[in-house]
Order: sequence, then C-alpha cells, then structure tokens
Amino acid sequence: MFRTPAKTFASQTPGTIDLEISDPVLMLNEVARRYETAERVLMEYVDNALDDAEALYHENGGAYPYPIHIELRIDREQRAVGVQDNCRGMTRDTLERVVRNVGESQKRGQTWVNGRFGFGVHAFRAAAETIRFQTQHRHSSHHVLTLQRDQHRGIKEARRLDEPFPSDSGTGCLVTVSGFDADWFRGVTAVSLQAEVENHFERLLARPDLHITVGEKGQPPLVCRPFDYAAVEGPDLHRELNLEHKGEIFPVTVFLKVAQATAVHRPVSFFARGRRIGEAADIKSFMRKSAAKTAVWAHPHLTGFIEVGEIVQPIINRDDFGRTQGRTVLYEALLPIEARLKPLLAGLNQQQSRATLGQFEEAVQKAVTAVVGGSAWRVAFVNEADEAGRMGVGNGRVTINTDHPDFQARARYTRQGNLRPTDRLNAYLATMLSRGVMQPDTDAMQTPEQLLNAQIELIVGLESRLHEQERAAKKR
Ligand SMILES: Nc1ncnc2c1ncn2[C@@H]1O[C@H](COP(=O)(O)OP(=O)(O)OP(=O)(O)O)[C@@H](O)[C@H]1O
Ligand SMILES: [Mg+2]
Repeated sequence: MFRTPAKTFASQTPGTIDLEISDPVLMLNEVARRYETAERVLMEYVDNALDDAEALYHENGGAYPYPIHIELRIDREQRAVGVQDNCRGMTRDTLERVVRNVGESQKRGQTWVNGRFGFGVHAFRAAAETIRFQTQHRHSSHHVLTLQRDQHRGIKEARRLDEPFPSDSGTGCLVTVSGFDADWFRGVTAVSLQAEVENHFERLLARPDLHITVGEKGQPPLVCRPFDYAAVEGPDLHRELNLEHKGEIFPVTVFLKVAQATAVHRPVSFFARGRRIGEAADIKSFMRKSAAKTAVWAHPHLTGFIEVGEIVQPIINRDDFGRTQGRTVLYEALLPIEARLKPLLAGLNQQQSRATLGQFEEAVQKAVTAVVGGSAWRVAFVNEADEAGRMGVGNGRVTINTDHPDFQARARYTRQGNLRPTDRLNAYLATMLSRGVMQPDTDAMQTPEQLLNAQIELIVGLESRLHEQERAAKKR
C-alpha cells in the first residue's frame, strides 16, 4: 500500500527523488522488536534520564549540581512502569519534536552522553501499547503528551498542566510506559528492574549524588547500588589501553578480577559510555575472535568490565557492536589479556577439580557405608603416582586409582575440569568396591557360590545407591 507522502521542502526540488517511509508505525514497531525483555526496554528511559543528568554534570564541571534522583515505579494493575527524574526536563517544543521527528537526536556528536540514534523513546513499541511523557523545563510550563503504539496521524499535541512538576527541583521528566503485553510484564518485579539497573549502569552508579530506586506500591523502594569489586578477593588485572586506529588514539579500560575463593557468577561485560552492552561471552562477534572463548569469558571465577569508549559503536538496541575495523582492533587488543588470564584460571580449575574429586570420594564412602554398614572399609581416591593398578586393598582401606585409563574413560569433566560422575563410572566403582569391601571373615565362611551372589548383591546395591545420591545432588 502506498500513502501519499507529506510534502516537504526537499521533495519539491525539481529533478530529485526523496526517501519517504510509507508506514512509519509498522517500521518503528518492527525495529523495536530487537529488544528482548521489558527490563531492557525500560533501560532506554533510565538511559535518557541519565543522559540529561550527564548534561548537568558536564555543565557543572564534572559534578552533579544537586542530588539526582531517578525513580522507577511499577503499577501492576495498569501493567505500567514510570521512570521519573529531577533533571532539566523538556520544553514543549522539544517534547513535540521527540514524538514527531523520529531519528533526530540533539545529542549526536556529544561524547559525554549515550544517545545518538533518536530511537530510544520508541523502545516501548516492542512490548507495550502506550507511552506518556510528563515534563517541565525551566523555560517552559508543565506539559503532558501521550502516544499509542499504533498511532500515526492525529496525535494530540502537548497539553498544559497547571500543577507544578512533582520533583524537588521543580523540573524533570516522568515517562510512563503502560499496557505492557501480559507475556512481557509477567517477569517484571522491583527486584528484576533493580538487577537490570545495577548491571546496566554499574559504571555510573558509583558516582556520588546519583540515586536510582525501584518501587512497587505497598513496598519500600529498592536502592540500586554498584557492584563492589573490592569485596571480591583475588588478583585483578587493570589495563588502560590506548588503541591506535585511523591515526587516532582510543582509550579502552579493562578491569578484570579473578575470584580466588568462590565463584562469583558475574561474568565480564562490555560497557560503552558507562552502559552495559552485554556479557563478553554473549557477544557473538567477540566469541568468534576469541581463542579461549567461554572457558575464559564465562568462567564462574572471572568478573569485571571492559569500557570500550569510542572505538566501537553499539547497534540500535545497544546489545552488540557494529561491524567495523575499530571492532577488529579492539578484539585483537584483548587477545593478549585473554592469554594472560588462561593460566590464572587454569590454576583455579586444578584446585577446583581436586575439591570436586574430594567431594566425590566422600559421596562414594557414604554409599559404601549405607550399603555395607559401619564396618565398611575406608575408600580413598589416589592417582597413578601412588598406585599403578585400577585399585588396591589393604590396611583397612580400598584405594581407587583415578588416573587409571579405565576410570578416566568413564569420567566426564565440565569445561572448568570438574569431575562429573556418570552412570558408567558409578557401575565401574561399584564393581571395584564390591571386591574391596567384602569382609575377610565373611569370605571364609561362605561357599564360592554364596560369595559370588553376595558380591552381585553388593555391586547392584552400591551402583543404585551411587545413582540415587547423584540424582539427589543434581536437584539441590
Ligand atoms: N528524561 C529526559 N529528560 C530530558 N530529555 C529527554 C528525556 N527523555 C528523552 N528526552 C529527549 O528526547 C530525545 C529522544 O530520546 P531518544 O532516547 O529517543 O533519543 P536519544 O537519547 O537522543 O538517542 P538514542 O536513540 O540513542 O537513545 C532525547 O534526545 C532528549 O532530547
Ligand atoms: Mg536515548
């Protein structure tokens, strides 16, 4: 279908053809489909509030002129979320331009703010029916403007409100996204939004005088806090890279930490202008370039961030980088760092795999005691250096050689080198142990047939006990 485009000045230039979008609603809604979660959609509005706070910070010589408050409020009945800030707000003219002139960003070229596309406010289209802007600027009155996701023409212009804007500064912006599709809204809670803010804006939250909270009716608001890397014990690797590209120098900050004692499960993420792009291991283009891939970047003991600065540009929904030469330069500069991390993490893997082997040894002992009773022999895992065969019996203990090829052929290991028991391994151990845990005095009293039967009983009993224990451990 073709709609007659509105006449503009440019389209009247004789001998030229202009681009026109015949169905802007369809186009905008389709582009917004790149957003995958309601939380991520809402971060665009927090992002805009933070950009406006950043303008204040910049104007004021690198400090906020007054405490900045950004509040997210969930209204479950309306399936709505409001994001309110006490920054500069928008004049009526800006407000109307934002809705009318899609893809126009006044921020382009300003490196201290994040916005560049002029699309962020349309992110709601992925998940909700309506967006409502309520705002007041120092040089303008308090105004409200509402836009529906299927609206193209006849959008009502900004309406003036008589009451003052409800913020301590008297200026600011309240953006309310409502009528979320039920599927998108189901998982949205104060905790899920708090987590998203903390992950997404981790680099900015550490600033004094910046407060972001998430509230839901009837509950005290949750305060968003930056992740405390100092509380993680272990060596860190901090590099300020200055990457040369097309005759210019681009600074990149790499801060990584290897958690020594326990896993942190907070994988390294890429950030651009203080906003999270995504976990390094989730960025496909980076994983293609990386040699160690998830073995390093998704290691449960590795955490930290990489602030990429200006050498790469995020794509429109900001969860990846555009394919450019700068991206190749960045990824290549990270390869030597990855190579340094590998041995650090491998050392941890060895420690960890010794610990899991120890845990498995205990589990096997538990099964033996449960099946044979308290008089069972002690089970010990040893390696080839101590013992050459599959197993040994003597001095009140049964030793299992974990380095023996028959043991190794039945064992499985996680990417980090931790032992994962298998049914085949359990059956093998049950068979080995059935010899070792047979008691000498019982041996003497029984006929060979009785002995064989008792041994079969023991094998079956141990094997099913080990299997049950393993299933119970997986559920935990
Ligand atoms: N909370 C806010 N306070 C002040 N101005 C705002 C606020 N939210 C939006 N705006 C204005 O609306 C404009 C459009 O926002 P939008 O997020 O669509 O684009 P952007 O931030 O410029 O770029 P990007 O699409 O990359 O986010 C902004 O450039 C800004 O002028
Ligand atoms: Mg924006």
